[in-house]
Amino acid sequence: MAKNKRKISILGSTGSIGTQALEVIDKIADKFEIIALTGGNNTDLLKQQCEKYKPKYVCSNDKNFKINGIKTLYGNDGLEEICSNKENDIILVAVSGKIGLKPTLKAIENGIDIALANKETLVMAGDIVMAKAKENGVKIIPVDSEHCAIHQCIKNITQVDKLIITASGGPFLRKTVEEMHNATVKQALSHPRWNMGKKITIDSATLMNKGLEVIEAHHLFGMDYDDIEVVIHPQSIVHSAIEYKDGSVIAQLGLPSMHIPIQYAITYPERFEGIKSKSFSFSEIARLDFEKPDYSKFPALKLAYDAGKLGGSATVCMNSANEEAVFAFLDGKINLGDIYKITAEITQKHTIIKNPSIDEIFETDNEIRIKTKELIKGI
Ligand SMILES: NC(=O)c1ccc[n+]([C@@H]2O[C@H](COP(=O)([O-])OP(=O)(O)OC[C@H]3O[C@@H](n4cnc5c(N)ncnc54)[C@H](OP(=O)(O)O)[C@@H]3O)[C@@H](O)[C@H]2O)c1
Repeated sequence: MAKNKRKISILGSTGSIGTQALEVIDKIADKFEIIALTGGNNTDLLKQQCEKYKPKYVCSNDKNFKINGIKTLYGNDGLEEICSNKENDIILVAVSGKIGLKPTLKAIENGIDIALANKETLVMAGDIVMAKAKENGVKIIPVDSEHCAIHQCIKNITQVDKLIITASGGPFLRKTVEEMHNATVKQALSHPRWNMGKKITIDSATLMNKGLEVIEAHHLFGMDYDDIEVVIHPQSIVHSAIEYKDGSVIAQLGLPSMHIPIQYAITYPERFEGIKSKSFSFSEIARLDFEKPDYSKFPALKLAYDAGKLGGSATVCMNSANEEAVFAFLDGKINLGDIYKITAEITQKHTIIKNPSIDEIFETDNEIRIKTKELIKGI
């Protein structure tokens, strides 16, 4: 990293990734200057963060939110204004959902590197985002621990035969299909390894999250879907691996902590001790298990592969339907098992747009959400 401080903005600083990113920055505060922090509705936390980190800009979804001495912005326009500010060296996109896409594109157009946590950006518009990043010479550094692992393993993508993405299997790995179908919200939110936002935690319980990660990996690393394998690894120590053409397999390991991939992404290509709490010990870990995913129990994973292979607006549709179904489950309106049924039904009926524009992506997203809500009402 240059001697000067790296100028960073964090979109979604009040969320799980955002707060952990600030914990990372606390440990290496001399390396960063915070340009902007943004939140959605949690303005109490955003206010505390502004008082501590004194960014130049802050953005929230509350029009009445004001902080003296800090330029306050509002909503999507505010996020895009922050991403147009060329003062930024890097922007951590850690908002959840489709809201991340347009600001990410704005940052890319302005030549600003991206640390990308928001997987919806690539699931919805991976082709457009990666092409624009290439055109503008912008680095997209993945924050998701699996993609961060692959990013660390790859030297030359043309020599790679296969990506191997690991999955903990979530809270229902050893439960029956029926137990999983009827699980309570509390049970589904009890992830054995990771502490994350609610949406991604439910996706991890159904393995839809792994499916979204497969689509993300396809776009980030330009690999065919048939060359991306998912393997269940309950200990979450091997974060992912790659197999080279000559049969060599290189994996990235570490204790399960999002601090490490976040720090890697925002400090890349440098490394610092930062937030590292404990040295890694193979003998303490003792065993690592791997198994094939059970597609009959976790059909969402197969659905995501299929949507990815279909391409175009298929992944937009699947993502929007799944998100609405997850919200309905969290609101107690449907069972956990209904999430897949609803998402599959909507995705199978969707007429695919081959190379959707950004406008068509958002139109598809709106239409699908309306259709999904109607389907949910009928359940
Ligand atoms: N958590 C993880 O370990 C993890 C790992 C890999 C990838 N990811 C990805 O990273 C992204 C964030 O995940 P998360 O777990 O950190 O989510 P989260 O805890 O729910 O946080 C989401 C953040 O986005 C903000 N936000 C949500 N809707 C918004 C809107 N309409 N306008 C403006 N801001 C909005 C939230 O603000 P308020 O809270 O203030 O409303 C919050 O700051 C997701 O795409 C997820 O898939 C997360």
